[in-house]
Amino acid sequence: MVVIGMFKIGNLRIRNPVFLAPMIDVTDLAYRQLCRKYVGMAYTEMIYISAILHENPKTKKLMMTNSNDKPIGLQVTGNNAEEFKELAKMNLKDYDLIDINCGCPSLRITGNEAGSYLLKNPGKIKEMIEILDNKIVTAKIRLGFKKNNVMKIAKEIEKAGTSALTVHARLANQGSSVKADWKWIKKVKREVGIPVIGNGDIKSGEDVDKMLDICDGAMVARAAIGNPLIFREIQRYLKTGKENKITKEEKLNEFKKYLELAKDYDVADINWIKRLGVEFLKGFKGAAKLREGFMLLKTYREIKDFVGKI
Ligand SMILES: Cc1cc2nc3c(=O)[nH]c(=O)nc-3n(C[C@H](O)[C@H](O)[C@H](O)COP(=O)(O)O)c2cc1C
Repeated sequence: MVVIGMFKIGNLRIRNPVFLAPMIDVTDLAYRQLCRKYVGMAYTEMIYISAILHENPKTKKLMMTNSNDKPIGLQVTGNNAEEFKELAKMNLKDYDLIDINCGCPSLRITGNEAGSYLLKNPGKIKEMIEILDNKIVTAKIRLGFKKNNVMKIAKEIEKAGTSALTVHARLANQGSSVKADWKWIKKVKREVGIPVIGNGDIKSGEDVDKMLDICDGAMVARAAIGNPLIFREIQRYLKTGKENKITKEEKLNEFKKYLELAKDYDVADINWIKRLGVEFLKGFKGAAKLREGFMLLKTYREIKDFVGKI
């Protein structure tokens, strides 16, 4: 088992190397709060810089954070230098760092030459990072757009002054059915002097342990959807070499907490709460039937009552 050391991202001390990945819709403030106790870092979902500059209410909700939500990265994407300059002027002191998304494969994003499209042009990423030189900046990348140029990207990004790099070990055109290729994370770690956080296919404490053997941090995405207590079990594994099974009651309890938090912060609409609820209910006896009933619910009250009766 690896010995867990602290590391720093810029001047930010990271006490726990297990990170909650940024995930659109999933990692709102309420969800992050469920994971906080056991993660060393979390992020907002990816937000378009132009949306931040427009300050519309929906974007403000996505950007919502508070003093318990620490440390927190604001994840952004874009490709327009002028917008990056405007972002650099903003007061973003609520966030510990700005993470530039260079990995999103969605056509809506790459069509605007942002997200993973940036991987085609490491010089462009470098330019963006340099513009934000008054902030702690990190980047989340994939191995390349269609062909692997991760070593070049990593070196350019380091040269630009980024404080850490997250490597999702797939190409942008590879879906999640393609196994993440961790050997590239190891190679990047060998080549750069900044902290490297490895991402892709982590499902357990054992996976985290293996990831921490090759780089500084381990970032978990899909395995945490509807399962925030995975982070508790990861920590248990790192300390004891064993994980406990998360019980259905515990999962349900976490969903109940999410319902309260989502209401308090007003971060999620009913449709999203239902979609997420289905994730929490996976593995329950009669899950298909539960799901059917669940999806018919129309109000927050109905959801609370339904969950109360499970
Ligand atoms: C529902 C969902 C939403 C995601 N949204 C984002 C995002 O906003 N920003 C980002 O950098 N990556 C996003 N990702 C990618 C994940 O952060 C992560 O890189 C990827 O899922 C691989 O990690 P995993 O194998 O642990 O799932 C998203 C993934 C999922 C499944």
